[in-house]
Amino acid sequence: MSDFIVAISEARVRRLEPFGVEIDFDLSRPFDAREAKAFRDLFFRENWLLFRNQQLTMDEQIRLIELLGTVIPGFGAGYLYPEDKVIGSIPLDYHSDMSATPMPLDVLSLLAIDLDETAGTWTGFVSGKRALNQMPDALRKQVADLEVTFLQTPADKSQLTDEIPDDRYRLVRPAVINHRITGEPLLYTIESATALVPDMSRAESREMLDRIFSYIYAPTNELRHVWKQGDFLIWDNIFLQHCRPPLDERYRRRMQRVGAGRKTLREQIPDYGFGAFFGED
Ligand SMILES: [Fe+2]
Repeated sequence: MSDFIVAISEARVRRLEPFGVEIDFDLSRPFDAREAKAFRDLFFRENWLLFRNQQLTMDEQIRLIELLGTVIPGFGAGYLYPEDKVIGSIPLDYHSDMSATPMPLDVLSLLAIDLDETAGTWTGFVSGKRALNQMPDALRKQVADLEVTFLQTPADKSQLTDEIPDDRYRLVRPAVINHRITGEPLLYTIESATALVPDMSRAESREMLDRIFSYIYAPTNELRHVWKQGDFLIWDNIFLQHCRPPLDERYRRRMQRVGAGRKTLREQIPDYGFGAFFGED
């Protein structure tokens, strides 16, 4: 039995609440085929994996994430730090990357390569799969038939509006979608991107979204990860949403980021002006 398969046997995996697992394993050695399958199975079952004390080059991180999805050359990989001119130090409300496109990113990963731990910087996560399971049957049935309208925002819920100008880009999709790999249903409605329920009056729409959000953003559905140097986090960008508080620029916080997705933002929305983002402008 290979090392990774031993490492993920129940005794060595630390299960977190309300979801996610921490695995004690050094990822710098490439996986063999059996380990790669075990890694994929674990990821799509748990949706959130933490490996501590990792040292991975960008290429090594890309090779790992390619086991879980498609890494498009020149897209989705880069470095994030407070003065990076990509997303800088602004707070990000709960979101899923590229949620207003037909094909959002599938997988995201961050490796803390240079971090001042005294800042206590954290990233929050909530699960749309778990939130759907927590709903009472009647509400779950109601949301199963719901369509919702997405707007692209820079993960800032104050920029959402239910009065959408005709020329503003939007996407209408079901509030409950099935995961492309596992087929499991999940709630995909997002406080910084889901503007309204198009078939309802504004008041009904607001009330419905607030009800849905009360399950997704319930404190019992949230995991907050406080970063340490060398932490490597991988999460499913469809099952889970993420957020962060504003960063304090006095503290170092350099993250090596690799995302997997089937299409770039530009391929999906050619004339959408969202600004610079990992090689796209
Ligand atoms: Fe994000």
